[in-house]
Amino acid sequence: MKIGVYYSPKTVATSTLEKPSIKDNEALVKVSYAGICGTDMMIYSGQHPRAKAPLIMGHEFSGTVDEIGEGHDFQKGDRVIVEPILNCGKCAACKAGQIHVCASLKYIGIDKDGGFTEFSSIPVDRLRRLPDNVSDEDAALTEPLAVAIHTVRRSSLKVGDTVAILGAGPIGLLIGLIAKEAGAGDIFISDVSPYRLKVATEMGFTAINDANESIVKEVRSHTRNVGADVVFEVAGNQITADQMIDCIKFQGQIVVVSVYKKAPVVNLAAMHFREISLITTRCYSPDDFTKAIKLLEQKTFDVNPLISHILPLDEFEKGFQLMENPESSLKILFHP
Ligand SMILES: NC(=O)c1ccc[n+]([C@@H]2O[C@H](COP(=O)([O-])OP(=O)(O)OC[C@H]3O[C@@H](n4cnc5c(N)ncnc54)[C@H](O)[C@@H]3O)[C@@H](O)[C@H]2O)c1
Ligand SMILES: [Zn+2]
Ligand SMILES: [Zn+2]
Repeated sequence: MKIGVYYSPKTVATSTLEKPSIKDNEALVKVSYAGICGTDMMIYSGQHPRAKAPLIMGHEFSGTVDEIGEGHDFQKGDRVIVEPILNCGKCAACKAGQIHVCASLKYIGIDKDGGFTEFSSIPVDRLRRLPDNVSDEDAALTEPLAVAIHTVRRSSLKVGDTVAILGAGPIGLLIGLIAKEAGAGDIFISDVSPYRLKVATEMGFTAINDANESIVKEVRSHTRNVGADVVFEVAGNQITADQMIDCIKFQGQIVVVSVYKKAPVVNLAAMHFREISLITTRCYSPDDFTKAIKLLEQKTFDVNPLISHILPLDEFEKGFQLMENPESSLKILFHP
């Protein structure tokens, strides 16, 4: 079978491998579409703390059950989505039912081979059934959508709230869609990529190019200098870590979604006088994942405009090169 492999920092290539064999608790999934995520880019750049080469990355993928043993709820031909979290089941977080903050959380596609391949062996309990009316393509966005759902549900967002989203990457845009669904009023979103801002505008958000305007100024001028009720930091750099404090209203809530490559300085002194709260978020719960599938099934909104490219595994390297430039890519899917 054809595979896409991470060999070393900035070195990925198409290769071949024997089809994996499956254990009793596993299914062989024929991958339909697999998305490149920011985390895959972190691995690609050699900055991921756990991922070890050679690795078949990819944790955002849909597929069809190709082989499975007896006694499972799935059978050959079932369309599925993979829920890629692997928790230990033993730590305090797992025992408390908060498996997404497991002390030794692992991921299919990061800690073991994932979805950039024709076939992947997946524990059956990591499979979710795909509703008939959700396309294989859209289904590949279930995982990032679950991140957005978890983020907004963890936030204090209330109907009519003014929201500022720093970063119009796939996660920022999906947070915008979910915030809108949750009843947000004005939604401001910033980026430095005109291409991504154009997609944000088409989705109905007020898009601000932070290369020549300022989201802080824009939000303040639209709120009589009060600020946004909720700010989502989804760009992951020092500039936005400063802006999240400058945009927020007194007693507002900052939600940090970003995984920082370099730890930013957060000005706590500038937060104190306005009683600002700050929360962080990680992944999603099983219930968030269920809700992501449900929203895709209900066609509540269209995630398809997020998909900028669909490439065969033969163009594996090209996918990563495209993804390095936010000006020409958003969500890139491989179609093995
Ligand atoms: N909490 C979680 O579980 C979780 C899950 C997935 C992703 N993440 C993190 O969320 C972040 C966003 O993910 P993504 O996949 O959308 O990544 P991304 O890199 O595609 O998006 C980040 C965006 O920020 C933009 N940006 C850069 N500088 C900016 C600035 N000064 N102002 C405004 N925008 C700016 C970039 O152009 C880019 O479009 C990443 O840090 C990622 O690691 C967290
Ligand atoms: Zn991801
Ligand atoms: Zn655990």
